Amino acid sequence: MRKTASRCYDLPNTAEMLVGKILLGMARFVPLCIAELYLRRQRFYQSVRGTDPEKTQGDSSKKWDAIIARCDFEGKRVLDIGCAEGAFCLAALKSGASYVLGVDSEWRTLVIAHFLARSQGLKPKFGLGVFPNIGTEKGEHFDCVLCLSVLHHLMSIGDMWLILTDPRYSKDLITLRKSLRALRALVTVGGVCIIEIPYKYRDDVSRRSADFSRFTHEVISCGFSDAKVLGTWESAARNRSIKDRVLYASYV
Ligand SMILES: C[S@@+](CC[C@H](N)C(=O)[O-])C[C@H]1O[C@@H](n2cnc3c(N)ncnc32)[C@H](O)[C@@H]1O
Repeated sequence: MRKTASRCYDLPNTAEMLVGKILLGMARFVPLCIAELYLRRQRFYQSVRGTDPEKTQGDSSKKWDAIIARCDFEGKRVLDIGCAEGAFCLAALKSGASYVLGVDSEWRTLVIAHFLARSQGLKPKFGLGVFPNIGTEKGEHFDCVLCLSVLHHLMSIGDMWLILTDPRYSKDLITLRKSLRALRALVTVGGVCIIEIPYKYRDDVSRRSADFSRFTHEVISCGFSDAKVLGTWESAARNRSIKDRVLYASYV
């Protein structure tokens, strides 16, 4: 097991990936009553069941409200990279998406996502994968790709403004550019990729200097035809003094 560059999450090696895929496949044979008991003992990143949004990054439904205001999911093929417990996979299906694939690097989280989906009678597909190698078929495209609060975990620091502007973080910038190109390759022509980037500030000076539109220039230089800053969403109050959580729409 290795860690993400952010050191926040475990990433599976090849053997763990194989075992994780088998265990995830077996989750569908678990009776719903047992799945319910299992869910009651879990802690969630997303606000799915009784999670106190102030103890996490915020109320996931508020993030979804900010996205759904800009994105039409009706009849769309949706990919959610780093889907965690699958809250947005289920929300996309409820908003009319025709097909939803949620990918995450942690099989345990995907088992939770699978149980939650089943408990609501919904059928997204879940796959174990480590972005950018997420195991989709070569050339497979999606009308909408969600990459929410994931990209910064590929970087050594959470301060996106420093990554974009400080030559000391040029390796992270290279990783960012590779990731944006990989995202671009997953979006169908006419489609959109919604990216969430948390900007973490060291002090007031770094907060004041952050220019969110700088990221849109990176997005366009990595092959998207256009990009827009959608703005922040109403995340947990305790974090707002040190972070902005900015949503971007990147068009192909
Ligand atoms: C901060 S959470 C965000 C979850 C969700 N996207 C949201 O916005 O509520 C990051 C998620 O991405 C997953 N993750 C981290 N690095 C990943 C990678 N390289 N590939 C796939 N998933 C990853 C983690 O396991 C975790 O579930």
